[in-house]
Amino acid sequence: MCRMCLVEVGRVQRDRATGQVVMEGDKPKIAFAPKLETACTVPVEEGMHVRTLNSKVEAARKDVVEFLLTSHPLDCPICDKGGECPLQNLTMRHGPGTSRFIYGEKLHSEKHVPLGTEDNALIYLDRERCIQCARCTRFSDEVAGDHVIGFYERGRKIEIVTFSDPGFDSKFSGNTTDICPVGALTTKDFRFGARPWELINSASICPHCPVGCNLHVNTRRTGASGKFEVKRIMPRQNELVNEIWICDKGRFGHHFTASPDRLTTPLIKKNGQLVEASWDEALDLVASKLKAAGSSVYGLAGGRLSNEDFYEFRKLFNGNAALYSRMGGGDLVQKIGIGVGSNFSAMGNPHTGAGGTTIVVVASDLEEEAPIWWLRVKQASERGANLIVVNARPTKLDKYAAKKITYEYGDEVNAVDGLTDAVKGSENLVV
Ligand code: SF4
Ligand code: SF4
Ligand code: FES
Repeated sequence: MCRMCLVEVGRVQRDRATGQVVMEGDKPKIAFAPKLETACTVPVEEGMHVRTLNSKVEAARKDVVEFLLTSHPLDCPICDKGGECPLQNLTMRHGPGTSRFIYGEKLHSEKHVPLGTEDNALIYLDRERCIQCARCTRFSDEVAGDHVIGFYERGRKIEIVTFSDPGFDSKFSGNTTDICPVGALTTKDFRFGARPWELINSASICPHCPVGCNLHVNTRRTGASGKFEVKRIMPRQNELVNEIWICDKGRFGHHFTASPDRLTTPLIKKNGQLVEASWDEALDLVASKLKAAGSSVYGLAGGRLSNEDFYEFRKLFNGNAALYSRMGGGDLVQKIGIGVGSNFSAMGNPHTGAGGTTIVVVASDLEEEAPIWWLRVKQASERGANLIVVNARPTKLDKYAAKKITYEYGDEVNAVDGLTDAVKGSENLVV
């Protein structure tokens, strides 16, 4: 735990003998604890008061930064996190500028440690940079439900290790590199690939599954070819879709964009041969043919497009368009879909009025097919939503389900029919 978020916490005071709230005038009396507490681990309480900025808190943060730097390498110029590193920012804000510790006494640990084998590891660890904040282990345990990394040893020797085989066996491992507040965890895909300030940021949507996670595509012009190439994919926060997470497929599955087999120039058929053309020429040709065809033309769109693209596509064809459902997971959206207005964040949450939500997952291994939906359904179930899993085989969602219904392959329809009466009365049903 890094302890950088130390704050002063006050709670409603209660009489030790009676348990009654002690009043000060017409308000409850607030008693501040003598010691500071870590804001990121203390559960919120009714009536709690938190002081985030006063001389006691500021002094503690300054000391914590100095302490963290006692064993932190001074390699910001070559560290992948440099330029977007919370520890750099905190050092600029709170750091003393000089250290009372002797550089020669710094602890030196292993660098470039693949969390897995050299060939298949997606994530690399630079142990020396780790400040033992536990964000990565808490994410894996609490958010992803994958108990595959943890702390080993004690005190200054403490280090992150993976104990799964294969190493760091999680479909969400890349998220730990986003939340690691230093350059300890980096992706094999991006490390030493570019400096963050050289990247151009474009908002996009993931094309790999029906979830449609919101993304940032980071591109950079390459010196050799002068062309832009995708350097990394980062999550873009959208609480209604993917919160701030993406799966490893969405993060690392972008190299097809640089495939030499991709068409990069429009081709027009002339005299039976496909010949290269300019975009203006190609678009003019398509526009003239569409105009000439009038209402007799019909558009088929692939399931990998975003809703926004579908909207524009339909407009282009004056409504004469359909989703060709066998491409890119579109069939899942078209045949099953998400209920209008459904909000994963609210499901199972009694404070949103959707505490009694029932979610039924039929014939789907969400972790494989729509990983972020898996994450969100799991979270909803942990909050109290009633989860029913209907499948012919075991899936990872089973352990979060209140009920598991197993059918024989081919008997899906009967299984769903049998369920219909049981869930008929449920509100906010998402299937
Ligand atoms: S690897 Fe990063 S996220 Fe994990 S404990 Fe170390 S500093 Fe924190
Ligand atoms: S869950 Fe993964 S594959 Fe699906 S849209 Fe999100 S990032 Fe892409
Ligand atoms: S202990 Fe709270 S952010 Fe590190």
